[in-house]
Amino acid sequence: MKNRSLVSISDYSKEEIIKILDLAEDFEKQPRQELLKGKVIASLFFEPSTRTRLSFESAVQQLGGSIIGFSSTATTSVQKGETLKDTILTVSNYSDLIVMRHPVDGSARYASEVAPVPIINAGDGANQHPTQCLLDLYSIRKTQGTLDNLDITFIGDLKYGRTVHSLVIALCHFNTRFHLVSPVELKLPSAVKRHIKEANLRYEQYTDLADVIPTSDIIYMTRIQRERFPDPLDYEKVKNSYILQNDALEHAKQNMRILHPLPRVNEISVDVDNNPMAYYFQQALNGVYVRQAIVSSILGLK
Ligand code: CP
Repeated sequence: MKNRSLVSISDYSKEEIIKILDLAEDFEKQPRQELLKGKVIASLFFEPSTRTRLSFESAVQQLGGSIIGFSSTATTSVQKGETLKDTILTVSNYSDLIVMRHPVDGSARYASEVAPVPIINAGDGANQHPTQCLLDLYSIRKTQGTLDNLDITFIGDLKYGRTVHSLVIALCHFNTRFHLVSPVELKLPSAVKRHIKEANLRYEQYTDLADVIPTSDIIYMTRIQRERFPDPLDYEKVKNSYILQNDALEHAKQNMRILHPLPRVNEISVDVDNNPMAYYFQQALNGVYVRQAIVSSILGLK
């Protein structure tokens, strides 16, 4: 992993994924160390973020590293027409590693091809979100005690949800039974389903979430991604497709946990937050330890 960019979760083998999760467990026990002293990490967010940006910044600062960057392009030379290539080449002069979020699919791969320093993809359009995937896997393993042979149910926007795409691909290493609940307009893309088929695994598709809750070990709720719809009217048609409420969870398995990459709009009712099955805020905390593991591995410090 040393000096390698992390653009897609497919860039990591099963063994490398497990190495990150094991390392994250160590960081959870001891998150404050001086491991990154003298290192400068650039955090370039061309698109809004709360969790990814701040958990990376917290992760780096707790390890004694420095952070430079921006959380919006409003005050940068992007406003003057600077290209992504020129921005990346310039920031590479000032940092050891670049964490980048960008609204265009494939932008992180492009950045990794022009940058002399490693790039971590913090989300590129509707394509991939590999660091979220690793913290999702960490959260699943922590709550279930294993990643193997689980029934995992994805609900919501499976078309535009980049966290879904990365997580489905990664779970193909672990003999997952996939349950895919979405409006017909927002089904999982064929390119992602191909990974399931190539792993000789199966998926079931549903439009009603009630049918699938009792068999699930994990429910992975997602927001309908308003910002990705070419036509706002199409968003209006599907925006309230699924709203998870406590009464729907009455017949869930005891071990079942609800994950959500967040932010939430209305797809999980706030009364579910106090249900012991709700795990999404702890999931966001796990992002700090997992990002500590990713950054220190890429910088060759672990
Ligand atoms: N899960 C996630 O990517 O959240 P943010 O958009 O707040 O970073």
